[in-house]
Amino acid sequence: MQINEDRDWESHYQANEMIWDHGEASPGLVDHLAANLNASLGQALIPGCGHGHDARALARAGWSVTGLDIAPSSVPLAKRLAEEEHLEIDYRVGDFLRDEPHQTFDLVFEHTLFCAIPPARRDDYVQALLRWLKPGGLYLAVNYMITDDNGEPPFSTTTTELDTRLGGSFELLHRWTPRSYESREGKELMNEWKMKS
Ligand SMILES: C[S@@+](CC[C@H](N)C(=O)[O-])C[C@H]1O[C@@H](n2cnc3c(N)ncnc32)[C@H](O)[C@@H]1O
Repeated sequence: MQINEDRDWESHYQANEMIWDHGEASPGLVDHLAANLNASLGQALIPGCGHGHDARALARAGWSVTGLDIAPSSVPLAKRLAEEEHLEIDYRVGDFLRDEPHQTFDLVFEHTLFCAIPPARRDDYVQALLRWLKPGGLYLAVNYMITDDNGEPPFSTTTTELDTRLGGSFELLHRWTPRSYESREGKELMNEWKMKS
């Protein structure tokens, strides 16, 4: 199914066709949280959170978490999964690229959202990061690094593009190849950025 418009994300949830959803948090995020147990915590936003597998991992690690997704039908299951673990997560329906933030965050974490954004809208994505983050905030991403574009998500992502788009406003703190779901082995890159003051 081709996804050209924002509303199509909703149709995927309604049709229960979420090929990106592995039913568990990104292995790279899980490892990162385990390796940084003493890191300072705060308020985290997960745009494009889907069913909230990463949101729950961050909440378990002690972050105060808000999950944002453009598809309303992603929310009921996300909420139920959080409730089953007695985790308090603020799930909201909204457009990361267009909305004015109801608050700003210490951390924005994302997992396969950048690759879902058409290249023509990626400047808006960077502007959105600057709006939703507190000054000096952290931006941690599990990026899906593919170069074969066929005009629908996932769109291509390269390190050159990330550095060009983000390098003006963010300092790259750390870049590494994470452990991945088997089907994405070697295709993911984690990038941790800090907003420049
Ligand atoms: C490829 S899925 C990834 C979902 C989740 N991060 C995961 O890895 O399981 C992309 C998600 O981003 C959401 N999305 C797409 N554009 C968005 C936007 N502008 N604002 C908020 N969410 C968006 C979609 O509804 C979908 O849930």
